[in-house]
Amino acid sequence: MMKKRIAVLASGRGSNFQAVIEAIQKGKIPATCVALITDNPDAYAIERAKNAGIPATIIDYSSFPSREMYECALLSAMQQVNVDLFVLAGYMRILGTSIVRSFSGKIMNIHPALLPSFTGLHAQRQALNYGVKVSGCTVHFVDESLDCGPIILQRCVTVLDGDDEDLLAERILEHEHECLPDAIRLFCEERLVIDGRTVRIF
Ligand code: GRF
Repeated sequence: MMKKRIAVLASGRGSNFQAVIEAIQKGKIPATCVALITDNPDAYAIERAKNAGIPATIIDYSSFPSREMYECALLSAMQQVNVDLFVLAGYMRILGTSIVRSFSGKIMNIHPALLPSFTGLHAQRQALNYGVKVSGCTVHFVDESLDCGPIILQRCVTVLDGDDEDLLAERILEHEHECLPDAIRLFCEERLVIDGRTVRIF
């Protein structure tokens, strides 16, 4: 099977991006990561891209006069990289409708909670405040609603007495670093089929 071309969108630290880079380097994912795209010129993910020899495109959100103009530049950067899959790995903005429609079924996201619970920002804090005993992470395809697209993989993490936001986030992150590469691998092996809201894994 031909290797797929993937690109990662990340806004910050990029530990999930690093997990993807390493899984590719170890031959676990039949793909080449051809680009990092970031909205944040200070993202540590850029350093990780450099170290791995992956070209980084910086589309600095703050340099655009409007969200629409930023989205337009992002869309054109996404079209130019010509990939099979975009991976949102800590990309901290909501993708606009035109982008989501242009790449339907070709964008996946990692979220640090068991969706559909605790969408949006600070999912780990939301889980603690709610008092759930189990949280986790979810990899899903991106559709036009926030954190709402068809679910590919989920991992459970037990919430422990004495957890604070950082401790819980750290334990969930360990699972994210396995779950995201796994989902990308399944996609690249052409084993995912979207059937309504359900993702079938073959
Ligand atoms: C992760 O918890 C991810 O689930 C969330 O943002 C965080 C990004 O972490 N969307 P990193 O940049 O991959 O280290």
